[in-house]
Amino acid sequence: MIRQLLKSNITENSINQLPVVNSHNEWDTLQEVIVGRIEGAAVPPIEPTLLANTSPSNLEFFHKHGGKPFPQELVDAAAKELEEFCRILTAEGITVRRPEVFDFSQTYQTPDFTSSGFYAAMPRDILIVIGNEIIEAPMAWKSRFFEYRAYRSLTVEYLQRGAKWTVAPKSNMSNEFYDIEYANKPVEERFALTKKNNCFVTRNQEPSFDAADIVRFGKDLFVQRSHATNDLAITWLQRNLGDSYRVHKIQFQDANPLHIDASLVPLKPGIALVNPSRPCIQEEIFRKAGWDLINAASPTLPKNWPMYMCSSWISMNILSLDQERIVVESQEEPTQKLLQDLGFKVIPIDFRHVYTFGGSFHCVTCDVRRDSKLEEYGFSDIDT
Ligand code: ARG
Repeated sequence: MIRQLLKSNITENSINQLPVVNSHNEWDTLQEVIVGRIEGAAVPPIEPTLLANTSPSNLEFFHKHGGKPFPQELVDAAAKELEEFCRILTAEGITVRRPEVFDFSQTYQTPDFTSSGFYAAMPRDILIVIGNEIIEAPMAWKSRFFEYRAYRSLTVEYLQRGAKWTVAPKSNMSNEFYDIEYANKPVEERFALTKKNNCFVTRNQEPSFDAADIVRFGKDLFVQRSHATNDLAITWLQRNLGDSYRVHKIQFQDANPLHIDASLVPLKPGIALVNPSRPCIQEEIFRKAGWDLINAASPTLPKNWPMYMCSSWISMNILSLDQERIVVESQEEPTQKLLQDLGFKVIPIDFRHVYTFGGSFHCVTCDVRRDSKLEEYGFSDIDT
């Protein structure tokens, strides 16, 4: 009897022993996570992708501060919130890893362009774990060309500990890669062109993507064509991942698409939050697969809050610790209420100063290990 018990314990332990890098979706129990850093952040110099992403009201700020460190008081306030977020994740039993501190205001030159950097605050934009593979995205901004350097000690360590590590091909980011004419158009014109004619600031002659344009549902991955991610990258992704995965291109009625995690946010099998201001064009895919798409609650951010990189819909950019616990910004009460009504346990954390830099809990993290295995969630018959 004792022997039998011991035996079953051993088997159980070896089943629970996951590879160090292992994540298949956005909701299984989180064990290890990379949380970005704001220290060393610099204001990107004006470039076509920045023009396409930020609001014209911010241009004065970018003209004044481009290439210089972000104002210290903004960095300090966001750093404090990130520290507290890390403390809470650790208290919830999660291993927290951080990138290295870099001075992103250093200027660099490649054969094609000169720029300075941005930050290592948003690991979601550059890294994605699919199964036991950690993929380093090429990025699309000149100011983000060398961002991977802040994560290299981590990616090398994960390689040494058994992970598959893939560096995706990078575009040269030369002037020809961008539609500069589009970038310089007045904002209303750009928005109309993107919404009606599918115009984007990046062209398609080389693959280019940010990891945050991908959302994982086990064997099915949904990717949007955005100002960072192009069609050739979607082809690369499918071919790189092989037959075990299906990569689906989906679009939203979004005049300014960049990163899918304020548009479609799965909470657990069968339930996803969607952004009511930018409906998914292929919504019926999810309904056919048996998923409920729930409209996210309206953001609570005051209009005058400084936001250099994203919209106030970053309120829906939550982080699931498992199928019950979800981290939500403390002042987003409508979002908290919505999630509580759906049966989730909300962990509120102050994060508005991080918002200013363009992201929230999902953006500032890369889930390295979740207690999950490769599964299907109803999408096996869809055609995209
Ligand atoms: N573009 C989105 C918005 O403005 C924000 C997405 C941010 N996501 C990220 N991973 N950085 O609503």
